[in-house]
Amino acid sequence: MKKILVIGGGSIGERHVRCFQKTARTDVVLCETNKELRQRITDSYALQSSFASLDDALDAHFDGAVICTPAQLHVPMAQRLVERRLATLIEKPLSISMDGISDLQLATNAHQASVSVAYVMRQHPALVAMKRALASGDFGRPVQIVYTGGQHFPFYRPAYREIYYTKHETGGGAIQDALTHVMNAAEWIVGPVTRLVADAAHCVLAGVDVEDTVHVVTRHGGVLGSFSMNQHQAVSESRLTVVCERGAVRFEGHRHRWLTSSEPGGVWHVENEFTLERDDLFVSQANAFLDQMDGTAASACTLDESLQTLKVNLAALESVKTGKWMQI
Ligand SMILES: NC(=O)c1ccc[n+]([C@@H]2O[C@H](COP(=O)([O-])OP(=O)(O)OC[C@H]3O[C@@H](n4cnc5c(N)ncnc54)[C@H](O)[C@@H]3O)[C@@H](O)[C@H]2O)c1
Repeated sequence: MKKILVIGGGSIGERHVRCFQKTARTDVVLCETNKELRQRITDSYALQSSFASLDDALDAHFDGAVICTPAQLHVPMAQRLVERRLATLIEKPLSISMDGISDLQLATNAHQASVSVAYVMRQHPALVAMKRALASGDFGRPVQIVYTGGQHFPFYRPAYREIYYTKHETGGGAIQDALTHVMNAAEWIVGPVTRLVADAAHCVLAGVDVEDTVHVVTRHGGVLGSFSMNQHQAVSESRLTVVCERGAVRFEGHRHRWLTSSEPGGVWHVENEFTLERDDLFVSQANAFLDQMDGTAASACTLDESLQTLKVNLAALESVKTGKWMQI
């Protein structure tokens, strides 16, 4: 059994506690500054121990850690863990600026630490299958990637006005909080964004002034992309379509399925539809991280890949301010 420290026991931290336990490969301990929350999670999940600070936790023994604090804390915390050669899974986004990233890269390489960033869409079996189909070459070269999606954020996260979401400096707003998942998935599938222009605004969500509606036009080398997302429409939907020279593939996150089409004037054909519970992707991510620690799998999302997506987040925010195309 590996001992895993979850740092931050908020919404996603509690999920990681539960999902690492579900792997049956770990003993989980918690570091959380909020006393009541720390006690509730320690009791609910029968944790052996918990800590009020990272300083206290670092005096104890564990094998790996999951950083689930707001995004401005990810890099400094990861630096301390990696310097102790601890395997580290960092929640998305990697950070809210470039501060400390090159030191973290140097330390990760110097200590040969296992590091992964928790872009959990990479665990989705429909997206994995779609990526494999594209790589087979059957549809020819990808030329266009199009995303449309939205969901009612207050319905899923009623406390959105009281958390990191309220400010860009803590990882908030649609670009850093939600669109980053899709951008990372798109880069995984058709390659890194090489330039972009973005438009975004706060349109609907009460009690915050960060953007809740965003449009981004991208280039991924020769592939043209467009992404539109909002965090207030009633129905949850998430469609990522890749159009190739000889056909197209589509991921529908809200229906856990992927589709293809190649007949001119034809219809979409459902390739596979999965039944997934909300925790399933996170259990899969936990197992992938444990496999990486065992040396039997590569990082599901490397520091370099998440750094590329961080550059996309920052470029999109800058483009919204200036109205200009940004080179990545
Ligand atoms: N992958 C996903 O689907 C997903 C979903 C939600 C959030 N996230 C990401 O996870 C991170 C946390 O989000 P959240 O929704 O859980 O936020 P949250 O506000 O619910 O929880 C953060 C917790 O960190 C604790 N904390 C803050 N500073 C700390 C410190 N120095 N030491 C220990 N604990 C500390 C806070 O007390 C709080 O309980 C963010 O980066 C967010 O973008 C990812």
